[in-house]
Amino acid sequence: MLTDKTRIAVFVSGGGTNLQALLDAGLENGEIVLVVSSSPKAYALERAGRAGIPTVVVSRKNCAGQDEFEAKIEAALKENGVELIVLAGFLSILSPRFTAKYPKRILNIHPSLIPSFCGQGYYGLRVHEEALKRGVKVTGATVHYVNEIPDGGEILLQKAVSVEPGDTAETLQRRVMEQAEWKLLPQAVELVSASIRREKDGRL
Ligand code: GRF
Repeated sequence: MLTDKTRIAVFVSGGGTNLQALLDAGLENGEIVLVVSSSPKAYALERAGRAGIPTVVVSRKNCAGQDEFEAKIEAALKENGVELIVLAGFLSILSPRFTAKYPKRILNIHPSLIPSFCGQGYYGLRVHEEALKRGVKVTGATVHYVNEIPDGGEILLQKAVSVEPGDTAETLQRRVMEQAEWKLLPQAVELVSASIRREKDGRL
């Protein structure tokens, strides 16, 4: 008998297309039980609402400091029995103190082939602008575990995507999402959810 599905929290700050991909994937071994947003305006909150997933907004600027910000997040995670955290366009920084509490239990999706175009300051369109500036012919997406180094944790999955002549940062971003991110993230989350489930089941 398999134990319950792995309980997942997805952290968002914006549009939430990766959250949508996870919702649409119909995970076999994982269940999204909570969406944490760093912004009350994130469209991702509407997507969660439509799917009937509980949400919590924890805004850094309404907290006295990083400790309070993370304490609020941790309280929500505990309350919902979360076992796996997925960062899907989450723009707030998590401290080493936080990441150390969840070793191999936080995943992030990054829109390049790490170690290219990653680390501090590389998010959103900037990643694709830099790839175009450098003239790479292949870029892609990476799902990696999160540790104390920005975009520095162990790589789980990567998928390459071609850069086409005439690409703008916007067209490249869209292609990377369609061809890589929206496929890769559900795949990675399924993999890790299944392994956590097996672990719980004592079958590892
Ligand atoms: C994606 O490009 C993801 O790789 C990056 O942030 C973006 C989030 O987009 N980490 P969305 O909110 O999932 O649409």
